[in-house]
This record gives sequence, C-alpha cells and structure tokens, in this order.
Amino acid sequence: MAESWVNSAERIGVDLHLELSGSGSRRGALATALREAVRSGRLAPGTRLPPYRALAADLGVARNTVADAYAELVAEGWLTARQGSGTRVAERAKPLGRPQRVPKEAPVRSRGPLHDLRQGVPDASAFPRAAWSAAYRRALTEAPSAAFGPGDPQGRIELRTALTEYLARSRGVRTEPGRIVICSGFAHALRLLYGDVGDRVLRGPLAVEAYGLGFHRGILERAGVRTVPLTVDQDGANIGELTSATGIRGVLLTPAHQFPTGGPLHPERRAAVVDWARMRGGVVVEDDYDGEFRYDRKPVGAVQGLDPERVVYVGSVSKSLSPALRLGWMVLPRHLVVDVVAAKGEREAWAGVLDQLALAEFLRSGAYDRHVRRMRQRYRRRRDLLVAALAERAPGLEVSGIAAGLHAVVRLPAGSERAVLKAAVWRGIEVEGLAEFLHPGAEPSLGDGLVVGFAAAAERGYGAAVDALCGVLPPGVEG
Ligand SMILES: Cc1ncc(COP(=O)(O)O)c(C=O)c1O
Repeated sequence: MAESWVNSAERIGVDLHLELSGSGSRRGALATALREAVRSGRLAPGTRLPPYRALAADLGVARNTVADAYAELVAEGWLTARQGSGTRVAERAKPLGRPQRVPKEAPVRSRGPLHDLRQGVPDASAFPRAAWSAAYRRALTEAPSAAFGPGDPQGRIELRTALTEYLARSRGVRTEPGRIVICSGFAHALRLLYGDVGDRVLRGPLAVEAYGLGFHRGILERAGVRTVPLTVDQDGANIGELTSATGIRGVLLTPAHQFPTGGPLHPERRAAVVDWARMRGGVVVEDDYDGEFRYDRKPVGAVQGLDPERVVYVGSVSKSLSPALRLGWMVLPRHLVVDVVAAKGEREAWAGVLDQLALAEFLRSGAYDRHVRRMRQRYRRRRDLLVAALAERAPGLEVSGIAAGLHAVVRLPAGSERAVLKAAVWRGIEVEGLAEFLHPGAEPSLGDGLVVGFAAAAERGYGAAVDALCGVLPPGVEG
C-alpha cells in the first residue's frame, strides 16, 4: 500500500494534511482523500485549497494529477473554481459523516438576542481593533526575548508600572508596581483570594452586598466561603450592619457604582468601612468594575486611597475594553502580595504575557484613555436616549443609577417584574430583573425593577432595542 503524509504549510493559509492510500492511480487517491476531508468537516466550506503546483510538490505527484483531481471534484460539486479566487470547498458541500455533538452544558449560540439589553457587557462592535493591534505590534517588536519564556506570576513589570501611573491618575489608587498582581479579571481575583486556586489567602465568612452578582457569590460558595448580606439602599451597602456582625473579617463592595443598583457608597460609609477594617483587622475587597464610566462631574475615587493596607483593589478591562481579553489587576496590601503571587503558581498560567505587554503599551501610549473617553461619550448618549424614551413612554417609572456605568435600573410597579420579563422574552429582548441579583438570604428591600444594560447592543440596533423595551413596560406606578 502506497502512503504519503503531507503537511503543507502553504503560503495562502490552508495546512492540508492528506493521506494518499491504495494501489490505484494517484489522481484517484487524491480525489478520495479530498472528498473524505470535506465529508468529515476537516476542510470547511469556503476553504481555499493550495495551488496545483504547491500541493503537487508536497505530495510528490505531477501538477496535472492535482489539476485533474480538483477538476473531478469541481464536476461533482465538492469544490468550486473561480478565476482569481482559486479552488475552494463548495459552500453546499456539507459534511455527511456523523453529526458533530455539541456538549449540552455548553450550548453554542449563533446569534445574540434580537434586542440586547444585558447588563455587564460593553459594545463589542466598538473594540478598538486598529489601536489594539498597533499596540500589540509595538509590544511584540520591543519585547525582550525573555518575554517569550515562562511568565512571572506577579505579571509583567511593564504593565504593573503603567497601571501604577494610570490608577493613581484616574482612580486615586495609591500603589507601586510591587503591590500589583496581574490576574485574568475580577472572578479570578476572587478565586485567588478566597477560592480554590492555590492556598486560600483570606478566610470567610465574607460580608457582601445584598444585591450583587450571583456568579461571584457562586465562586465563594463553591470555595466553602459563607456570604452574609448587607442591606443596600440609595447610599450603597449599609456598613453599620458590619459592626454588629460577629466573626466577619472581610467585606466585598462595589463602592464607586453599587452593582447593580448604581449609586456610589456614601462618603461616611466609605470612611466607616475603612475604620471597621482597621479595628477588626479586616479586609475590604473593592470591585471597581466600571469606575472609568462616570457621566457627572463628581469623580468617585477608589476607597483603596483611604487605606492601601486594608483594601484589596481589583479592576479589569472587561468593561473598558472587552471581557474576552481576560485581563485584570489586584492592588494589594503589602502583607498579602507574597501569598497571592504564590496562589497563582510558579509561572504565569492565567493572563497571557503578550496581552499584558500589549495592554502596557496601550496604556502608555494614551490609547486606553482615548478609547475610554470615546466610549464614555457613546454610553452617555445611549443613557440619555434611554432616559428620554422612558420619560416619554413610561413617564411614571423611576430610573436610577444613571450617573455612572453601563446600565440603569428601571423601577417597576410592585409585583410586575416577572410579567414584564416574560413580555420582554416574547419581544426578543434580553434584559434582567432586580430579583435575579438578590442574595438568597436577604429581603428584597428595593422592590421590583429591571437592570437595563445600555452598552451591549451594537450602535445601529440600540434605538430599536429601547423602543422594544418601552413597548413592554407598564406606563408607571399608579397614584
Ligand atoms: C459586578 C461586576 N464585577 C466585576 C466584573 C468584571 O468581571 P471580570 O473582570 O471577571 O470579567 C463585572 C463584569 O461583568 C461585574 O458585573
């Protein structure tokens, strides 16, 4: 049996790996191998095949043999040949083999919702592709060879240095590069501090805001950390409840923009939580998830600035750039640095070193500031459009939490949240209700409402999404 393995790292892109077997003609064997590759899905519809000469050289066959095999498959409808665009796998040449199974727990959604009003997601269509690739290219060009070896688990010094400057300037964070640890985002930071990654750095139980992200509570629960809810009102979490709680040594807060209700933590409560941490030897974990996006002229700096030895400050690019990058940072009290770095492991295994260098360059060059400024304007326009549309079409409904961030809370008449959410589903609107964010052990102190994300939709779909939302809202609270 003749056999030839070919791995053609071919200029135009396809890396064709064909097995020519059997004792018949070379042309017949090649046609069979190509049919099999298309049928099994290894060659996807639209894939451009190598030119005759390149494949012939790789396979050690005559150029005409390849040309004849291609022609045979074109005639059969497996391939298409067009002047100027070469020979490609036909769009209709569907794999005939066993259907590929998609695991149940990971459904693949080919399209997003018709109207995307999810909270927590920035406008993906606005990712600064050109500026990011320029930063990436520059970072690659300038990186020392050592950058392509195993990474320092604390993170690249270039990024920690750029963050030190940026965080001080934009968020009032007091730090130096030695106190920053790079991670893959807030969720990772939580796992490093309390979870199952390495040795646990901090111990529970942990006080959390009664309204918060269930995903984060889940990380803590899975790590065996009990969470104790603090009531949330228009001034943020009720810090007074901490002083009466026993056994609690840590508190997780979103001080700049309470998630999801949207207000800043009252200045007296900011001071009170730091006093509490000092008195109890406790730690405040500060989730500064969208601190860059404030629309009024009252900057709300980080609580960390009040006492860097009592606050773990965490930020990420998930709202400012993209949650796909998986890049974040922890600014730590000095005494926690060694333990957190140890929890990350011996070498960087979470945050791609080259992405870190690109982000450092992005920050250093001012591209990050420019992007945030542009997005702030865009999100502010969207917020204004939402508020104006609601004022006109649902004038009795209160909108809150709109001075900052990427979402607003629309208060609903008591008892109507579920029905409104159901109507939203029917209209193809993806939006969440306040109840979804309530700690299971807490009272629903805020009543009914929707958490409306105004960033996720692409620019051209946003107006229609707001219009559809107004169509499912009740006009307002009676009386
Ligand atoms: C409350 C809150 N914290 C933090 C984050 C950021 O999470 P990560 O950095 O893990 O993407 C988000 C993002 O959606 C969030 O909603």
